[in-house]
Amino acid sequence: MASISYPAPQAQKSRRGRVRAHWKSLRAALKCGSLCGLSNADTISAYSEDLEKRGSYDLRSSVVASTVTAQGSDEKVPHAKSETTETRSQKALVVTKTRDYAIEHAFPVPHVADNEVMIRTVAVGLNPIDWKSVDYNFCLPELPWITGREMSGVVESVGKSVTTWQAGDKVWTSTYYRDRRAGCFQEFVVVPGHTVNRMPEELSFEQAACLGVAALTASMTLWRWLGVPMASAGDEAISQNENSAWLLIWGGSTVTGQFATQLAIQSGIKVITVNSQRTSEISYRLGASHVVVRDGKSEEELVEEICRITDGRITRAIDLVGIKTASVALKAISTSPSVVFAPLAMMAKDTLVPDNVRVETVEMKQYVLDSTCEVYAERLNNLIGQGRVAMPEITVIAGGLQEVVQGLDILKRGDMGGKKMVVRF
Ligand SMILES: NC(=O)c1ccc[n+]([C@@H]2O[C@H](COP(=O)([O-])OP(=O)(O)OC[C@H]3O[C@@H](n4cnc5c(N)ncnc54)[C@H](OP(=O)(O)O)[C@@H]3O)[C@@H](O)[C@H]2O)c1
Repeated sequence: MASISYPAPQAQKSRRGRVRAHWKSLRAALKCGSLCGLSNADTISAYSEDLEKRGSYDLRSSVVASTVTAQGSDEKVPHAKSETTETRSQKALVVTKTRDYAIEHAFPVPHVADNEVMIRTVAVGLNPIDWKSVDYNFCLPELPWITGREMSGVVESVGKSVTTWQAGDKVWTSTYYRDRRAGCFQEFVVVPGHTVNRMPEELSFEQAACLGVAALTASMTLWRWLGVPMASAGDEAISQNENSAWLLIWGGSTVTGQFATQLAIQSGIKVITVNSQRTSEISYRLGASHVVVRDGKSEEELVEEICRITDGRITRAIDLVGIKTASVALKAISTSPSVVFAPLAMMAKDTLVPDNVRVETVEMKQYVLDSTCEVYAERLNNLIGQGRVAMPEITVIAGGLQEVVQGLDILKRGDMGGKKMVVRF
């Protein structure tokens, strides 16, 4: 585990306190920004500037994080307890009734039903949806609520009918937001048995905590919704040739885009991505055949470059950035004979969809609701174990739940440059 240094707890606390005091009024500004048609990047930057102007919180210097490359999972893990969970309490990061965050020290440990597994959290992955759902008030069935959608940890206890898992197993999972017990920003997370996956031996807890959202979304988007043949369980990728179909990924450096790139080429598909200059090397390294560098180019220039390189052979496309880029991506794929398109970062209802395009709505809740989807996580694990899919670079924040809000603030600034943010408990 790479070493991580931190500001003194007292200093952190007072800084966090000041942030909380600004949070409510800034949220109103953020909402206004979104309603006025500003992009997330605009509102994020307004948010950060406001904080910095007030001299209250320097997001760039407040966390000394570490970058994880590769390490196995044979480290010490928390000891699994055997006592009944009914009367125990735990620590949880709660979205309060005022849609602020608070650490609850005596939150009830969730009940485990017969087909469920309780996992003690070791690491959580942070995702854009975590802060967006709180800032824009969606995916919060009621308040108080617990958010967080992916984690790795150690099995604490299992329901009566679960035979696959036992206390002490190292696992990762992907959760559905409608169950508060499955919110990952708490010490004990309870999920259906079929959504629990063994941690590949090659991965650390921090790395395994990134599989539940970006990696699984990329897998299911390609294999379930875009009709990409699932990569073989053998050792070999299907090779590409000059007639291979293309996949367009708008947002190639997003963590989801990085997984999608690698999975597509395993199935013999050529990948073209849209990135900034600073991240173009990431997509090339992962196997993209062409990276369209977007810096300084007009929409028309980006569309022209994509059409010229792919020459009418795009069959699938994903947008991972937002409403505006989804509509530009649709223009870029309008000249191919037939394309399936997954707008993973939203598409406006009134977007003009060309006749040659079929839009697929990706519903990741199916992973939890439909137990046959476990096959996608199994194959993903298999590909990672074979070294055919590499993990993204990870920025780790140590310190557990109290650091999650700080991590989400950094994520909100949008300057992760292709890295994944993980909080270690
Ligand atoms: N529907 C679902 O279930 C689901 C699941 C997973 C993710 N998502 C959504 O997919 C999106 C990506 O998520 P993520 O966690 O993978 O993202 P992420 O890693 O946080 O993506 C950040 C990257 O986006 C790139 N970017 C920003 N503006 C761009 C633009 N105009 N064109 C191209 N790239 C741009 C930036 O890299 P550059 O420097 O290259 O610009 C930045 O490094 C989010 O909106 C998320 O909510 C949805």
